[in-house]
Amino acid sequence: MAIALIPGSFDPVTCGHVDIIERTAVHFDEVLVAVIRNPQKAQALFTLEEREEMLAEVTAHLSNVRIDFFKGLLVEFAEAHGVSAIVKGLRAVSDFDYELQMAQMNFKLAGIDTLFMPTSPQHSFLSSSLVREVARFGGDVSSMVPEPVARRLKEKFAR
Ligand code: PNS
Repeated sequence: MAIALIPGSFDPVTCGHVDIIERTAVHFDEVLVAVIRNPQKAQALFTLEEREEMLAEVTAHLSNVRIDFFKGLLVEFAEAHGVSAIVKGLRAVSDFDYELQMAQMNFKLAGIDTLFMPTSPQHSFLSSSLVREVARFGGDVSSMVPEPVARRLKEKFAR
């Protein structure tokens, strides 16, 4: 069985993430979306459980997608779950340098390939961090994140 692994912080999941998950699900028997437990980034806005809940809601229409958590090295999680390939979305050339470096490191560590999928153009400007910032200051992000996420962002930043 071919299993794709899509890792990330998903703080929160955006329409760009959903696009990558949906398109990956067409090509693999199973897609494992893995939320990192200890992101190196600044304090997360949403708890792990909230991020998992949102991911589960927005992928509920995809029967071959499951959500899990991981901590430590991604390749160890990948090996433990029999993953065939890691899949990463690329929004722009600027993503490529770092993603290439990680892909090569992960291959060196465990012989696991990374496949890059270009983000659909309508999502290429999107990032979780920008969505958080816009939502924090009351901007409208309803076209950038799925509805359950927009709702939770509103609740988070309600004054
Ligand atoms: O959504 P993000 O924050 O861009 O995701 C980054 C993530 C979680 C995919 C990356 O930081 C990662 O794989 N971290 C796990 C630790 C690890 O394996 N590091 C070595 C990578 S070469």
